[in-house]
Amino acid sequence: MEIRPGIHWIGVRDPDLEIFDVIIPTEYGTTYNSYLVEASEPVVIDGVKKEFEDEWFAKLAERIDLRDLRHVIVNHTEPDHSGSIKELLRRAPHVVVHGTRPALQFLSEQVNMDFNKHVVGENDVLDLGDRTLRFIMAPFLHWPDTMWSYLEGEGVLFTCDGFGSHFCFPEGKILASQQEVDFTGAVEYYFDKIMGPFKPKVREAVAKLDGLNLEMIATGHGPILDSELERFIRLYQEWSWEQERAEQKRIVIAYASAYGHTKRMAELIAEGAARNSRVDVVLLDAASAGPGEIEEAVSSFDAIILGSPTINADAVYPVWRVVEAISAITSKGKAAAVFGNYGWSGEAVALLEERLEKMRLVVGYPGLKVRFGLTEEDEERCRLMGETVAESIT
Ligand code: FEO
Repeated sequence: MEIRPGIHWIGVRDPDLEIFDVIIPTEYGTTYNSYLVEASEPVVIDGVKKEFEDEWFAKLAERIDLRDLRHVIVNHTEPDHSGSIKELLRRAPHVVVHGTRPALQFLSEQVNMDFNKHVVGENDVLDLGDRTLRFIMAPFLHWPDTMWSYLEGEGVLFTCDGFGSHFCFPEGKILASQQEVDFTGAVEYYFDKIMGPFKPKVREAVAKLDGLNLEMIATGHGPILDSELERFIRLYQEWSWEQERAEQKRIVIAYASAYGHTKRMAELIAEGAARNSRVDVVLLDAASAGPGEIEEAVSSFDAIILGSPTINADAVYPVWRVVEAISAITSKGKAAAVFGNYGWSGEAVALLEERLEKMRLVVGYPGLKVRFGLTEEDEERCRLMGETVAESIT
């Protein structure tokens, strides 16, 4: 499908995808966008997920004899884009693959075969004869390997994950301007899930778009942006600054309670933390919270305090669910503490502390364990924990 003269979308739709990367629900499915640029030296930009490669090769075959293909660009080598490249290299071993050093390293390990490779860096250009591609480094959007490719003179920027969305457009309607529903929410959701951990990197990459005469952003997922480019760029700028500008700090206290004692501890810790006016406290009962509530609660925080009773020598499952929802990337270095009520041995606190430390959070306050009922002294210890953790982040 031609999106600009001589530039063809050869991607595939995956409307039935329900979960991406094992952990990200995709309500609207997704697409894996790939492009063929018909230049004197033809180039394919990004591939598709392996299970869709037959469809991809069929689309390629409609446009080009693979013997004539000269170049392949890998903007990013997560297998939803690189999965079909191995078979392409098998069918067209003469092509030269261009990517960042990490991208070519990752691809080598994925395909386990020799191929012609060319490492590119910031502002390097690839002369296609009658067209020119320029490369813009965009590391961590979404892997360390990532770059964007800009078709000079035509204003088309190929961004792979950048500005993408898990939004499977209707058959034949691949452009943003053709969508009958507003998919901005899907772009924001995608940003939160994929780009959210790398906001400073997003700002760096988006700043590089200044001065480009952009007419189209050809993403790796979802509708190709052919209109309102400034709006989407501005949104990326805004989203990449959110939270970091907030002066108010946020403590999440997530707990589960068997007989109410751990819950009481959580409430007292929250009371102590709330004495600090620069802190917002979120109290979450993990046993009754839905997955969305847990994800939302731990999506951003300055400190997290987890509470669990000990049952069968372990912390309880609802609290492990909270741990599972914490991003080890965005939470690295953040303050954490653990508490819990118990009757026999009380292993939950130490086990949770160990896990949080392995995720590189800073468990800077000693675990608070209370056996059976709370004394007045215990209550004050709980308040003190909240107050001290709050103080440590303000
Ligand atoms: Fe769409 Fe990071 O892969």
